[in-house]
Amino acid sequence: MQEAMSVPNGKKRLVLALAGYGTVGTGLAKVIEENRDWIIERSGSEVVIKSILVRDVKKPRNFPVPAGATLTDDHEALLNDPEVDVLVELMGGIEAPKKLIAAAIRAGKHVVTANKALLAEQGLELFELAAEHGVHLKYEASVCGAIPILDTLKENLAGNRIMRLVGILNGTANYILSEMTSNKLDFATALKQAQELGYAEADPTLDIEGLDAAHKLCLLTRLAFGVNYPFEQLPVVGVSKVEPEDIEFAREFGYRVKLVGQVQEVDGKIEAGVFPTLVHHTYLIARVGGAYNAVRLEGNACGPIFLHGPGAGDLPTASAVLGDILSVARGAYPNNTGFVRQVPPLANIMSPDEASSKYYFRVIVRDVPGVLRDLAGALAEQDISIAQAIQKEKGAAEVPVVFLTHEATARAVKAAVEGMKAKGLVVREPVYYRIL
Ligand code: NAP
Ligand code: HSE
Repeated sequence: MQEAMSVPNGKKRLVLALAGYGTVGTGLAKVIEENRDWIIERSGSEVVIKSILVRDVKKPRNFPVPAGATLTDDHEALLNDPEVDVLVELMGGIEAPKKLIAAAIRAGKHVVTANKALLAEQGLELFELAAEHGVHLKYEASVCGAIPILDTLKENLAGNRIMRLVGILNGTANYILSEMTSNKLDFATALKQAQELGYAEADPTLDIEGLDAAHKLCLLTRLAFGVNYPFEQLPVVGVSKVEPEDIEFAREFGYRVKLVGQVQEVDGKIEAGVFPTLVHHTYLIARVGGAYNAVRLEGNACGPIFLHGPGAGDLPTASAVLGDILSVARGAYPNNTGFVRQVPPLANIMSPDEASSKYYFRVIVRDVPGVLRDLAGALAEQDISIAQAIQKEKGAAEVPVVFLTHEATARAVKAAVEGMKAKGLVVREPVYYRIL
């Protein structure tokens, strides 16, 4: 083994306090052990886990506690050790990790976290605090698992104006939709599998209701556009109500149903949201399967870029966490927000009602003469025109009518649905999704 190079601060050991020893925490310990020599070659520093915070010190673990490390449930004690250089926060939640991270920053320690919920909902003050104390607050693992999208935006593509970013940002939701599509699994079974594989959040509502993807979209919007789109204002629809019929109908038209997060600048305004979306099967995004994630972005110099890779799970996420740790070990200068200013201005938000898209509709109607004409009429009243339509199960009393529209605003689509209901044309609440 080659003699380790010295790092700028002259240390050859980077000491970590780990908060959380679940899926990602144990994954990190495993990679640090497996790649010990390689880490020294890459960073000139030995990376050592000294203490690990958990809720229950007696609980069996997926990977042994590293030799020399202690397991504790004492939040205060974790940071009192002056030897600790970096807090690695992998516990999840908002209040407890926020307190811990703020205390670590105030104590002059660097922070690496995978916690998108905290950073999206309450992160701005932590970035300000980190800047005041001149420490790293790194969070590559918080968005798209192993895919290096945050540093790509902060560093490699920093010279570009980004015009549009579209992504599959949640591994659990993508796993569920992929299993429902390819293996005809029901929603509950697919979710259970995603949980067993370590992809889902401790509260899987965040995954299936689109909130985790929305957290990630907030972080991406800050880095790509330099503005803050408050999480609470982002339009979000999850996958919990996606029905197998819609996956099948979409397939007949040549589309796949995906949970897509997207943000773009339109006439100086930011339009963003997370929605189940039909994506044509020829698009790369449509081919992202299982717990994989992908981001497609367009910059004014780089053109279109597509990044694809594992979006969740122990080792993929640990890979991103360790990359951040090594950057601290090398003595890199903190570039936490990707901008000179540490607090982004509020985005000039386009009203979600004005967002324009093509749409997929599935409506259940009574199979009587003139019903298609009347449906088309309800759409035409809102200036929406039909691009393709199919009617299924002719002869039954109630039949699904499925159609794709040309571009329409969300406002017009809602008004058309209200019109269909008011005229008594539909026997169930219509289903409609955007088309990418
Ligand atoms: P996890 O398996 O549920 O592990 C959480 C760990 O944190 C457990 O060891 C738990 O202790 C500990 N913990 C939780 N709350 C605590 C508290 N108040 N005090 C002390 N310890 C506490 O979660 P995970 O899947 O590893 O996720 C961790 C973080 O990474 C989350 O922010 C998540 O959003 C993020 N993330 C996860 C993935 C993924 O694929 N799983 C990917 C990217 C980012 P006990 O074990 O004693 O209960
Ligand atoms: N629960 C998240 C997902 C973990 O399924 O994508 C990765 O952030």
